[in-house]
Amino acid sequence: MIIESIITTVGPGGAAHIAPMGVIWRDSHPILAPFRPSTTLDNLRHSGSAVINHTDDVRVFAGCLTGRRDWPLKPAERIDGRVLQGALAHQELRVDRIEENEQRPRFHCRVVHEAAHGAFTGFNRAQGAVIEAAILVSRLHMLPRDKVERELAYLDIAVSKTAGPREREAWGWLTERIAAFYRNAAAESAR
Ligand SMILES: Cc1cc2nc3c(=O)[nH]c(=O)nc-3n(C[C@H](O)[C@H](O)[C@H](O)COP(=O)(O)O)c2cc1C
Repeated sequence: MIIESIITTVGPGGAAHIAPMGVIWRDSHPILAPFRPSTTLDNLRHSGSAVINHTDDVRVFAGCLTGRRDWPLKPAERIDGRVLQGALAHQELRVDRIEENEQRPRFHCRVVHEAAHGAFTGFNRAQGAVIEAAILVSRLHMLPRDKVERELAYLDIAVSKTAGPREREAWGWLTERIAAFYRNAAAESAR
């Protein structure tokens, strides 16, 4: 099972890094699979630890993909890490083993601490749509434009029917980013 999460890691100089990632769960063991190159990968190698944050504020997912990474953090309990302040729950991890791979090494981890901070308040289709659109944004360079536009049109139905203010804001950031990507691509090819 893969759970879309917000991963926080810490770099050699102590700087925190935040990125959305799909965490692979095998029984109670999480596996992080960051692509090369990425800051999350470098930080995992350096520190051997990370925090999985679970939030229903999908602006964090959309924000990280659109240059808005400055979300409030607080110190972790058991590791030298950071926890997203708005997280409903989090898990603190230590890396047990690295499975090397040219494209996407796998970090097999163990949960050393977990805590709940807020209640799960139910499913919202617009939240799912924002996460799907954030994944599209992370893959714009490798997806055909007609596929992106078709999927966005479908996801837009859930957003217009069910979104609250946070989801609408996140949707706006992502759709602006997609429009800018195709504007730039058109300008490049006209050159
Ligand atoms: C929902 C979601 C899941 C993602 N899962 C992964 C993942 O498992 N591995 C990965 O490398 N990138 C994943 N991404 C893309 C990264 O968040 C993005 O490329 C990020 O910038 C990682 O690079 P960084 O550590 O240098 O910031 C995901 C993005 C989204 C929106």
